[in-house]
Amino acid sequence: MQVHVAFTPDGAGAAPTGVVIDVIRATTTTCQALASGYERVFCTTEVEEARALREELGEGVLGGERNAVRIPGFHLGNSPREYLEPAGKTLILSTTNGTRAVVSAAQRCERVLIASLLNLAAVVEATYVAEEDVIVVCAGVQGTLALDDAYVAGRIVELLGWERTDAAEAAARLTSTWSGAEEAFRASKSGRNLLENAPELEEDIAFCARESVLDVVPRLVALRDGAAEIAL
Ligand code: MLT
Repeated sequence: MQVHVAFTPDGAGAAPTGVVIDVIRATTTTCQALASGYERVFCTTEVEEARALREELGEGVLGGERNAVRIPGFHLGNSPREYLEPAGKTLILSTTNGTRAVVSAAQRCERVLIASLLNLAAVVEATYVAEEDVIVVCAGVQGTLALDDAYVAGRIVELLGWERTDAAEAAARLTSTWSGAEEAFRASKSGRNLLENAPELEEDIAFCARESVLDVVPRLVALRDGAAEIAL
């Protein structure tokens, strides 16, 4: 089996399985929300799409960010620490890069799994037993490589132990240059954006840097009106 890494969503071709990462913070938030008891998370691209979906469903907690802070009129932001208790059954999430990456992978891959460091071991195990070539899709930041997502991609490549494309090899080598996740996250564009725009959320970095503390594997269930429905 082979593992490939796309450092940006546009660099991802079609593959049987896509594993999507936006570790700071959209996929971490998605994993945490489902582990805490939300039944489903809709990943949406545009703010108006999220609002329209809530109208259509007749329920749902609106969560997400622009420039790292809560979207006006939304119930919650994109801090995973806001999702330690469910505030409803359905979360409708819209973020700058991460939810777009999930929707993009849903359009290209037969199977989509959601990865973060929090559920690293669980997602690697699910990928391993599926025995299908996999592409790890990094959300990046506005179409460019982000070191935080590349770090997690490298951890997945290391743990899978499969044949690596050159991009997968690059991710694994990059990961080994850091002393740990938090150092990589603080150095990344995503981490710096968070600290510049919402310094009060600095603790999110350490929260997102914890490895294999949640035993969940969020998966794509369906695409609905352009939103990716994710559940366990
Ligand atoms: C994103 O989707 O770009 C991120 O999740 C941004 C963030 O909330 O830190």
